[in-house]
Parts: sequence; structure tokens; C-alpha cells
Amino acid sequence: MSGWVRVCSTAELLPGESRVAWDGDTPILVVNLDGDVHALEDKCSHEDYELSAGAIDGDQVECTLHGARFDLRSGEALCAPAYAPVRKFPVKVEDGAVWTRDDR
Ligand code: FES
Repeated sequence: MSGWVRVCSTAELLPGESRVAWDGDTPILVVNLDGDVHALEDKCSHEDYELSAGAIDGDQVECTLHGARFDLRSGEALCAPAYAPVRKFPVKVEDGAVWTRDDR
């Protein structure tokens, strides 16, 4: 387990925007949904593809490889071909920046 990783300044993650940060070898997709920031592992639970390559639509992200959708708030898989959730990570806003961490 490592410490918090700085994603970007809050000004660089406005509502509707997303970023990818790395905690060690873990890619983390960080999304601002109407002012609430959420962090998910940037890895589709179907075949390990980067979710950040797909489209964010409201509070969902669609994997560009086979079309699975995930809830950005919970990581829950919403449709086939993915059934397992995507890992959620903690996120915080502090000192004018957004932070996340792989807390496994
Ligand atoms: S790798 Fe994401 S839906 Fe298949």
C-alpha cells in the first residue's frame, strides 16, 4: 500500500472531465461528475482494456473494445460482456489538488 498520488490541480479536472493517474503500476481513471470526483481502476473487468479509451456518458463509461458499461460512482458492471465490477479507489480534494491512491 502506498501514499496518496497527486492527479492534477482542481482547475484541471472540471465537471465532465477525466484524467488518468498512476499509483505504481496501477492506472486510475479519475472523473469529475458534476463536482463529485470518483476514481476507478482504468482496467475493464472483461479483458483488462483501458476504460479511459472509451466514452464517458453521464455517470457511465463504456469500454471501447466490446461495449461493456460501468457505473463511474460504484464501479458496478452494467451490461455484458462484463459482469465483475471495476475496482474503486479513494479520492480526496486537498491543497487545491485532486489525490487518489491504490488502497489494496
Ligand atoms: S475489454 Fe472491455 S468490454 Fe471487453
